[in-house]
Parts: sequence; structure tokens; C-alpha cells
Amino acid sequence: MDIASLLADNPYVLAPLAGYTDLAFRLLCREQGASLCFTEMISCHGLVYGQKNTKILLQSRAADRPLSIQLFGSDPEVMAQAAGLITRADGDFIDINMGCPVRKVVKKGAGAALMKDIKLAERIISQVVRHSPLPVSVKFRSGWNSEKIIAPEFARMAEDAGACAVTLHARTWTQAFGGHADWELIARVKDAVSIPVIGNGDILTYADGRRMLSETGCNGVMVGRGALGNPWVFSKTGRPDTLTARVPVILRHIELVTKYLQADKMLFRIKNHVGRYLSGLPGASRLRQEIMATATLDSLIELLRCEESFT
Ligand SMILES: Cc1cc2nc3c(=O)[nH]c(=O)nc-3n(C[C@H](O)[C@H](O)[C@H](O)COP(=O)(O)O)c2cc1C
Repeated sequence: MDIASLLADNPYVLAPLAGYTDLAFRLLCREQGASLCFTEMISCHGLVYGQKNTKILLQSRAADRPLSIQLFGSDPEVMAQAAGLITRADGDFIDINMGCPVRKVVKKGAGAALMKDIKLAERIISQVVRHSPLPVSVKFRSGWNSEKIIAPEFARMAEDAGACAVTLHARTWTQAFGGHADWELIARVKDAVSIPVIGNGDILTYADGRRMLSETGCNGVMVGRGALGNPWVFSKTGRPDTLTARVPVILRHIELVTKYLQADKMLFRIKNHVGRYLSGLPGASRLRQEIMATATLDSLIELLRCEESFT
């Protein structure tokens, strides 16, 4: 699959978000217009050891394509082995996570820690490219901290190592998820490489995505937190202003969760999302509390239907 033409048709991409971008949410975002989705980050060790919980993260369906499967790890050999286990039936791309700021990940030399060891990062990318049946992309940050902004050279290294595309989350490790993403750096990365560049950071509306595309010249725009409770971010019309207009999509999300998630995970997972759908609505905090207090999916659906008829 050619990522450049895919993004040229529709540049809006759903970010990998651990704990959120499961099969159900990806399908929902696609229904609202997302062109490409990523799995959440998957441990290369978990894949190689065949851990059950890791395999669940690979769960997909025909309607969930094109799909990029994101791997993380710091050992080039294990990363290569994991990539070799992924087949064309699983997805269309493999993405390597070189931006995760979480201490547990960074302590093991993976995620954003690889931005401090560009040689190791290069070995990982080359090995994964060599063993992967699929095109390989890389997602990384601006650099470790504001004194070490290395995104353009990191992107060039990724291109030379065989990456088919790069995604820049334009924040440093030190920034984690705070402050602002530096969109100018996305433009610099775009100038530095000839492979497609996906820009990421602080897109909250469809219009923000268009602005990033025109200000930076990037090929695709990736939406992370802005898609939570707002899958409409992928459509021109945007999020409706009333609960009545939002409820059909919330119910569709619940339907997809019921269909595709493990029974013991469904209620917790959907509650995590549903509170976010109420953002900006009158009475949202009362309704959020009532939602958190529901004990079954049926009572949650009943509550939403009842609220819908009052608004
Ligand atoms: C809860 C959460 C989970 C995340 N999980 C991942 C992940 O698994 N892999 C990854 O590359 N980035 C992950 N990210 C980072 C996002 O993909 C994205 O780069 C970041 O949120 C910035 O984009 P935004 O400003 O649109 O949210 C995560 C972020 C959040 C908030």
C-alpha cells in the first residue's frame, strides 16, 4: 500500500492511544472519516512470547483497514522477530514507536529514549525493515529536551534506514503532553525528507487539521486526544452541539464495543469514553456521575436514551 496516495485522498489519521484506540474505537473513527488508524503500541517481547493480552491488541476486521500496527521495544533483534510475525492479514503498515515518554518504557531504552541513541534507533529501523513483510514507518518526538531538537536529522536517519513515512509529535520528551506542539518543526521535517510526513500535536478540530496541512506542508495530520469523545473531528461538519445529536454516535460506539471487546473489559472501557462525549454540554458533570455509577451496559444505554429524550 502506498501511504502517499492514501494520505493524498484523505490526510486525517487516528493516533495510537494506549487504552483507547481498540478495534471498536478505530471502526467508529473510520465511520466518521478517519483514513488511516494505528493500533496502540504493542510490546515486541509480548508478540514474540505469544502473550494472550498482546495478541488481543492485533484483533482487527476487514472494515478496519488500512491499519498500522505499532511496535515498541529497544532490542533490534527482538523488534525484527516481532515484525516478522506480523502478516499482511494483520495490517498494512508496521510503525515503530520512538516517542513514548512513559518512564516504564523509557527506562528500558524504548520509546522516546531512542531519540538519545540515534545509532540504536537506526539499527532497530533497519532490522525491522529487513524482516517486515509490510512497509515500516516511525513515530517520534521533537527531541529529548529543548536543547536537543533533533527531529529533522532523526527523520533523515529514518528515511535512510528504509522507513516509508514518519510521524512527528512535535513535543520533546521533557514536555510530555504539556505546552504546545511546535508546528514549525513539522515544516522543517517535511523539508528534510522526501518520504511522507504526518504531523501530530494539538489538533482539536477538522479546521486545525487543515491549518496544520497548509502551515507545514505535511502529507497527513494525526489526531490523538482531540478524537476522544469527538470522533466527529474527522468530518468537516464537526461535533454536534446537542446531546440528542451526539447520542446516535455514542450508541454506535457502545454497539461496536459490545461486538468486539472482551466482555470483562467492555463497561470500564466505554465509561472511559462516554464521559468525554458530553464535553461542553449543559448538565455534563451530573450526567457523567450518573454514567460512572451505572453497573451494566444496558443501564448505561437506558440512561443515555432517557437523557436524549429530554434534550
Ligand atoms: C492516553 C494516551 C495514550 C497514548 N498512547 C500512545 C501509543 O500507544 N503510541 C504512540 O505512539 N503514542 C501514544 N500516545 C501519543 C499520541 O499518539 C499523540 O502523539 C499525542 O497525544 C499528541 O497528539 P495530540 O496532541 O493530538 O493528542 C498516547 C497519548 C495519550 C494521551
